[in-house]
Amino acid sequence: MAETGPQDADTPQIARLKPYFHALEKGKSYFWCACGRSKSQPFCDGSHRGTRFRPITYVAKEDGEEVLFCGCKQSCDKPFCDGAHNNLPGAYALDDPESAENRAVPTVAADASGKALLDGGCYVRSIQDRLLKSRGTVKFGPMITAADGAKFQSLFYIEAARGASPVAAFGERDVILFVSAGKGAIEVSGRRFAAGENAGVHVRPGEAFRIHNDADAPMKVFAAACPLADDIAWAETMPANFDAAHPDRVVALDPAMRVSMGARFFQLLVDKRIGSTVVTQFIGEIPLSKAAPHRHLYEESLLVLSGGGRMWTDGRKAAVAAGDVIFLPRKQIHSLECTDPAGMMLVGVIYPGDNPSINY
Ligand code: FES
Repeated sequence: MAETGPQDADTPQIARLKPYFHALEKGKSYFWCACGRSKSQPFCDGSHRGTRFRPITYVAKEDGEEVLFCGCKQSCDKPFCDGAHNNLPGAYALDDPESAENRAVPTVAADASGKALLDGGCYVRSIQDRLLKSRGTVKFGPMITAADGAKFQSLFYIEAARGASPVAAFGERDVILFVSAGKGAIEVSGRRFAAGENAGVHVRPGEAFRIHNDADAPMKVFAAACPLADDIAWAETMPANFDAAHPDRVVALDPAMRVSMGARFFQLLVDKRIGSTVVTQFIGEIPLSKAAPHRHLYEESLLVLSGGGRMWTDGRKAAVAAGDVIFLPRKQIHSLECTDPAGMMLVGVIYPGDNPSINY
């Protein structure tokens, strides 16, 4: 146990600067240690006697339920991790990309489809213009699908020339759009929203969307569909089924909304505040550094907006540059390194999940 916390009886001790992963048994009660003094972390062993703390009971809802119990005892979502450990002194660990061990890790090159395959199905993919299909004003192509090993989310690239695009739909799925270049409007089931570079847009299950580009420069849009879809269903007519119970659909970049995670920053774009309850989009900034290897319980897609670096898994690494997409399966150990002194900007979609700062 990392005895890094204060010792008085009114303050929880930090048991560990990261959470504890557990797969639970349905109906079983788990007694999470709130005081941080237990020798059987993350569970209570009675060591809280004499303090103001009592264990928190959690009854597992299903067999195999995978959870991350808080180790730092600072979470606002007790007994689970909420990422609070990342901002404790010394907690956001970095890795040395030039260590002897890391120097021995081979670099994977992209294949003819632009895909550099890493461990566990993780990969880096660049857009190959020659592989895009055309329909009306758009060129489009898949970046992440079930054929790539995705289980939860798909990602499609759509490049729209001047004019109104055909209508795109993904059935009863949440669709999260990101405008990576250009400026115009996104129409969601008959309601039109102005959307410029770095805007996130939520299309609710059952709705459809199209891109209105009034400029000569193309509008570049990435569409994440959750749960995953094989392809975009195109149509010529727009349904009039906009869900007016959720009128706010566009979230723009706002430096005032940035939150820190160690030396990194992120801003939530589309999330539960505008009605997206199981899928979350964020935009992040990474300084020149390599994070220590870690995992997430969610599946993640990342689009590099600026800067460059390398994506690392257990025993491989691949270069990443602006415009590349990274697919990260659940629980795959990884580390994203920024090699650009000016930093790296990226946008991510996590599903299922609502907090991109939870790692283990
Ligand atoms: S030992 Fe920590 S709450 Fe019981």
